[in-house]
Amino acid sequence: MRPPSALPATPPVFPLFRLARALVNPQPAPQRQLRCASSGAALAEAVPASDAAAATSSPNPQRLPASWSGLHAWRAADADIRTVWGAKGPVPATAAAASELGSGAAAVVEAERLADTAPLPASLAECARAVLLVADPLGKAALTHRAWRAWCDGQLPLGTAEALHGPPARPANPELVPPRRIPSMDKSPLPKAAYMLHNLAHVELNAIDLAWDTVLRFSACGLPDAFYADFARVADDESRHLSWCLQRLQELGFEYGCMPAHNLLWEGAEASCGDLGARLAIVPMSQEARGLDAGDRLAKRLVGLGDNRTAAIVRRIALEERAHVAVGVTWFSAICKALGITPGPAFRRLLLDYCPGLLKGPFNDSERALVGLQPELYDVRLWPAAEAEAAAAAVAAAAVEEREGRPHAAAVGSGGGGGAMLPLADERQMRQLAARLGAMLDLEATNAGLA
Ligand SMILES: [Fe+2]
Ligand SMILES: [Fe+2]
Repeated sequence: MRPPSALPATPPVFPLFRLARALVNPQPAPQRQLRCASSGAALAEAVPASDAAAATSSPNPQRLPASWSGLHAWRAADADIRTVWGAKGPVPATAAAASELGSGAAAVVEAERLADTAPLPASLAECARAVLLVADPLGKAALTHRAWRAWCDGQLPLGTAEALHGPPARPANPELVPPRRIPSMDKSPLPKAAYMLHNLAHVELNAIDLAWDTVLRFSACGLPDAFYADFARVADDESRHLSWCLQRLQELGFEYGCMPAHNLLWEGAEASCGDLGARLAIVPMSQEARGLDAGDRLAKRLVGLGDNRTAAIVRRIALEERAHVAVGVTWFSAICKALGITPGPAFRRLLLDYCPGLLKGPFNDSERALVGLQPELYDVRLWPAAEAEAAAAAVAAAAVEEREGRPHAAAVGSGGGGGAMLPLADERQMRQLAARLGAMLDLEATNAGLA
C-alpha cells in the first residue's frame, strides 16, 4: 500500500480553471446569499428529510442534474440542526436535550458549544482541511456542522486549500488493523448491538473525512459550486449520523475506540486521490452504496435483539444515505456526458482497476436502483463476458489480499495509471471538464426557463 505520507496533494492553484469558470458563469452567486431553504428549524419529522421538503427557495435547484427525484429536496433543505437522538428521533442539540438524555447527548452539545466559540476558517475549502485535521470524533462532527451552516448562510466563499499529504487526524483508539484481525461479532466481548453500532460509528467517522477530502482535494479544479456544496452537505449528514451513533453507544455503556477497526474506507480515498472519476466511482457510488445494502438488514437484526432505539437510528441513517449515492451517480453521469464517455464501461473499468473488492455482494438492488445505480454497473454477472471474467479474477485476488492484510495492488495508485479517467494532474482535461459542466448546467437552466 502507498505510504500515507506519499499521498500527492492537490496542486495549490489552477488559475486557468478560475478563468474558465468565470467565462462560463460570469456572475457567481453573492457570498452572502442564503444557500439553503431557510434558517432555523429543519425539515419535517417524518422524513426521509429529503422527501419532506419541497424544492422551494434554494437558488434554482432544478437546474442541477439528479439521478433520484429526492435529490432536489435534499439540496434545497435547510441545514439540519438535529444532531442529538431524542426520545423519538433526532432533535437539536440543546441544554434541555442534554439534561433529559444524559451524558451521550451532553457530549454532543458540549462539542458544538466549543466549535461555535472557535474561529472558523475563511473558506469552505479551508474548513474542509480544518475538519480533516481534527482528531476528536465529536469535534470533527461539530466543526463540520458549523462550517455547513456558515456555507448555507452565505458566510463562506468556496476558496481553495491544499489537500492533506497523509491520512486525516484520528483519535488514539480504535486501533486500525486488517479486517481479519477484527474479532467477529460472536467472539467480541461487546454485546451484539454495541458491536454493530461501533462498526457503524467508524463508517460514519470515515464518511465525514471522505466527503470533505473530495471538497478539498478538487477545490482548485473550478468545478461548479454545486459540486462542492453537494459533498459538504454529505459531510454534514455524516456528522449527524456520527453524533447519533456515539450518543447511543454511550447510552449502551461503550465508547468509540473500545474495539479495533479497519482502514478500508480511507484506503479507497487514497486509491482515488488523483482521479475525479475514480473518486466518484469508489466513494459515493460504491462505498456509500454499501450503506443501502446493509441498512435494512442491520435494523432488522437490532429489532431482533430488542434494541428498537438503535434500530431507529440505523433506519434513519440508511434513508439519508440514499442522497449520498445519488450525488455520486449524478455527478459521474454529468461528467461522462460532458466528456462524451459512456458511463457503464467507464465505471466498470474504474472499479476493476482501483477497487475490485467493492464488486462483491450482497447488493440491495431495489435500493440501489432507486437512486440511479443500475445492476448493470456493479453486478459482474451482467457484464460483457470478457469484463466479467476479468472481474471474477480481480475480486478473488482482492479477497485474498484483504484476508492477508494487503490492499489490492491498484489501491496504491495516484489516479494517473492506466485506468485513470480524469487525472487531477491533467490540467488541460480538468479545465475542459469544468467549462463543459458549467455550460451544461447553464443550458439546462435555460431550457427549464430558470436562467
Ligand atoms: Fe452516514
Ligand atoms: Fe453517507
